[in-house]
Amino acid sequence: MASQSSQWNNNTAFLLAATGSAVGLGNIWGFPYKAGENGGGLFVLLYIFFVITLGFPVFMAEVFIGKKGKSNPVSSIETLAKKSKSSSKWSIVGYGGILASLIIAGYYAVIAGFVINYGFISATGLEAGAAAAVYEAEKANFWEMTFWFSLFLFASGFVVANGIDKGIDKAMRFLLPMLFVLVIAMVGYGAVAGDFSSGLNYLFSWKAEDFSAGTIQAAIGQAFFSMSIGMGTLMAFGSYMPSNQKVSKASAVVVTADTGVALLAGLAIFPLALGLGFSPNAGDTLVFVTMTEVFAQLGSVGQFVGPLFYFLLAVAAFSSMISILEPSVAYLTQKHSMTRAKASTYVVAFCFLLSLISVAGHNVWSTVSIGALDNPFEAMKYFADDFLLLLVGTGMSIFVGWRLEKVVDADTMGINNKNLMSLWVFVLKVISPIFLMVIWTLGNLQILFDIRFF
Ligand code: PHE
Repeated sequence: MASQSSQWNNNTAFLLAATGSAVGLGNIWGFPYKAGENGGGLFVLLYIFFVITLGFPVFMAEVFIGKKGKSNPVSSIETLAKKSKSSSKWSIVGYGGILASLIIAGYYAVIAGFVINYGFISATGLEAGAAAAVYEAEKANFWEMTFWFSLFLFASGFVVANGIDKGIDKAMRFLLPMLFVLVIAMVGYGAVAGDFSSGLNYLFSWKAEDFSAGTIQAAIGQAFFSMSIGMGTLMAFGSYMPSNQKVSKASAVVVTADTGVALLAGLAIFPLALGLGFSPNAGDTLVFVTMTEVFAQLGSVGQFVGPLFYFLLAVAAFSSMISILEPSVAYLTQKHSMTRAKASTYVVAFCFLLSLISVAGHNVWSTVSIGALDNPFEAMKYFADDFLLLLVGTGMSIFVGWRLEKVVDADTMGINNKNLMSLWVFVLKVISPIFLMVIWTLGNLQILFDIRFF
């Protein structure tokens, strides 16, 4: 029998933990590079549009499942399925989320390891023009990459093992304020040292020729990933919410903060990159090659600002990583009655193995392609972010919209207006499943089989 979650004893704990989860590499590494790859303004506008129309409703659905089910992703869904006389097979959605979270942990730690390493690299001061070669050399070094990701993974596992109060809440109270100060400092520096108006223009200008199914999928996938939707994290954190906290208000705060930081990250990076004459179109090496080059060009100032930038990224990644480990630790402790220490050890050990595979994807197995995907690292990223995440998101949307229609209550949600409540359920029932599945199908056809419709 699954036990219930314990709860946080104050209303800020959920806000801090969920914001710490949402604001991560997705915002500062992912969002700017995807905006750069997809032509800037159109991607940004689509992103904001999807955050509001699909992300926010599904975010609330996920938090609701946790809050109402009061347990880990799998047990919460089982409890609610029983309550609504639905099949217990719906728990597959919870398992899907846990699987996605484990795979994400496996590659996320590796990118975060890079971030820490780059903090030190940028502090030593690189020669201008050296960044690309340094990146190639770092990527080729299996053991060095393993060292950095292990440091990061074990530290996050340690926080999670300490529980939701002494571990997660305590860490977030310290990490989150630091994160906001660092983002603002970076935007300020970018505005002074870079070309702020070009950055702003790049982020918001519209180019119709950039439009394709790929841009839409990239924008939706990025929105879901950035809001930590579809991996069980929000269900787990939702189950720790105090009973008087309202899902809608808490969700609105987190979603706004997450989107705000993504835009601020763009405003920190693009003015600097464009101001120093670099194209922001470097793909996923934007923060490692382009930004390192930017810091190299800045000379001794760069040796100070560079480490600050990577420290910001590391803090953001750390608070997210904790939340990525939590769903599986909650599952093992509640469903299989393990102690947190034991559960965290198992989860970290499993993620360690996945991370080794993901490191190998950068070097020893860099040419081992899996279907249409270049290497194991890309394959893990694809399978979790593009394949599983939208699938789980759709599953939650359908479960809450169709099966829990009678269970959802205005009080838990904090939505007193009947029309707004019906609108939310309607989006979950019809709009989001149709939209997500169309995009999921088109995107996967394009990535896996190179079949394009537009
Ligand atoms: N939202 C985090 C980011 O933007 C990543 C994450 C995904 C965290 C899923 C938890 C669950 O980096």
